[in-house]
Amino acid sequence: MCTQLANAKHKVAIIGCGRLGQHYATAYSTYPDTEIVAIAEFNKERRIAVGQRFGVKNLYQDAESLLKEIVPDIGVVVTPTKWMKESVIACAEAGVKGVSTDKPIAASLSDADAMVDSCKSNGVVFAGGNLPRAHNHVQEAAKWLREGKYGEIQGAIVSSIGNCISGQGVQWISALRLFMNSEVGEVMCWGQPESNVYSEDDEMLSNGIFSMNNGVNVPFYGTSIDDSVKTKIRKHDGVKATHKMGLDVWTEDSLIRWFWDSVEIYKGFDKNGKRILTDPEFSPWKWQEFGYMTSSIRSLIKSIETGSELAVSGHDLRQALEVAIAMKLSAQKGNVPIKLPLVDRTHTLIPEIYRWIGGDQTGNIQSVEEASTDLNM
Ligand SMILES: NC(=O)c1ccc[n+]([C@@H]2O[C@H](COP(=O)([O-])OP(=O)(O)OC[C@H]3O[C@@H](n4cnc5c(N)ncnc54)[C@H](O)[C@@H]3O)[C@@H](O)[C@H]2O)c1
Repeated sequence: MCTQLANAKHKVAIIGCGRLGQHYATAYSTYPDTEIVAIAEFNKERRIAVGQRFGVKNLYQDAESLLKEIVPDIGVVVTPTKWMKESVIACAEAGVKGVSTDKPIAASLSDADAMVDSCKSNGVVFAGGNLPRAHNHVQEAAKWLREGKYGEIQGAIVSSIGNCISGQGVQWISALRLFMNSEVGEVMCWGQPESNVYSEDDEMLSNGIFSMNNGVNVPFYGTSIDDSVKTKIRKHDGVKATHKMGLDVWTEDSLIRWFWDSVEIYKGFDKNGKRILTDPEFSPWKWQEFGYMTSSIRSLIKSIETGSELAVSGHDLRQALEVAIAMKLSAQKGNVPIKLPLVDRTHTLIPEIYRWIGGDQTGNIQSVEEASTDLNM
């Protein structure tokens, strides 16, 4: 009996199997303890193509029709943001053990609240998806900071938070909340250009200050404050991205520098007073494939099995969305400090149209040929 349980695979359903959904499907199909049992995909040709590609016979148009016939252990929601709420709540109400979604979690705070609340009341683990915050080095460095290995945090700064404050900015906000082990309590923001400040979407070049509940004020900048730092190729799409400083957190003698899946730790000073870069000696990690997507997925599986804390949760995505909304509100009101949590939960920030309604609706359609092909993640 025990052996049977130990060998039982987690049954997984992918809901929304476009570009990112196919990355998830590739990852889930490589682990020894997970099995994709069903796919819900709105586009019929793509549905057939991904079914063949991943060897999945149970194919449905959407979460609702899938859940009528199959209740998986894990629902992996990777639809465009507009349909995440209905899919996440349908999974939670159907009785899955865990559900994940991706960023941005929603446009309105009330939708994000509804997803978090539904998972909570149904006892479902709600994971946040493919965010570098989940990377095991990022998690371990943040844990060391929390444990006081480097002393008390004295300051932090966020660079290059980006133009799409809920579509991309949430990556920085999520990392900041993790490293500071604190919520953002107040936001002051200066936005540009004026046409973006007053638009309904999340595009706005933003500079300002996050006042954290632990008492540290964190300046943030829309663009990079250090262009000199490295360049890397993002492996999964071949795009050359500038690898800049994202977040620096410092204590009296140490500096922890985060960018995406890379963490540098400086401790002490040399004879010229310059910081010394250390080898952090991160713990060995058995799951190397697919970078932080794997870290995020393995954290969801561990949480389902043991009740452990998630590396990135739906709650984290909701908190990050709320900070992004506060940035826009502050800029609109003339840099007024905005206190969090926001009382009015109807506030909304529509993400970039591709994220909101997906490739098929915006003319950036993934061909059947591409959907049938193994990706180099
Ligand atoms: N975390 C990250 O790094 C990251 C990267 C890329 C995309 N994303 C997010 O992932 C989401 C999806 O992006 P994408 O690039 O895969 O988009 P995409 O348009 O390539 O794929 C979305 C798929 O969902 C399907 N779909 C739409 N509504 C559906 C529904 N109700 N039920 C079932 N299927 C449905 C579409 O037919 C499409 O195949 C977006 O919210 C985007 O912001 C996150």
